[in-house]
Amino acid sequence: MTKSSLRFGLALCFALALPASLTATSYQPAEDSEFGVLVDGVGAETTYYTCSACHSERIVAQQGLSRSGWADMLDWMIEEQGMFEIEEPERTEILDYLETNYNVDRPNFPQPANE
Ligand code: HEC
Repeated sequence: MTKSSLRFGLALCFALALPASLTATSYQPAEDSEFGVLVDGVGAETTYYTCSACHSERIVAQQGLSRSGWADMLDWMIEEQGMFEIEEPERTEILDYLETNYNVDRPNFPQPANE
């Protein structure tokens, strides 16, 4: 007589834990520049808030002047249009910004409509 013994192996159980994937997507909708039509850059914010107090920033963006032209423009704005004096360092910041981005030779100077 033979005696057989049955052996039972080990049953392994795997527990799979799926990592919870939490993706927080903060998404910025496309919108106009913070400073209206003004080109972004150093001084854009100061220029925007100073100059758009009375009129659209477009009136600024459509001009192309040298630094001294802009300085005269600011004087004229003060003397004739009731603009407050712009204190330093804001005045220099604004002139730097305008000279850099809205000079006579700026590449995006809007062409006057054909006459
Ligand atoms: C206190 C109000 C006031 C503020 C602030 C002001 N402006 Fe003006 N600006 C005016 C008025 C009013 C006119 C329109 C004058 C007109 O055409 O009779 C004008 C016109 C202009 C023009 C058009 C000039 C032209 O040749 O037609 C430019 C350029 C301009 N402003 C630039 C600026 C800039 C740059 C700033 C900021 C540094 C500024 N303005 C801030 C009142 C203001």
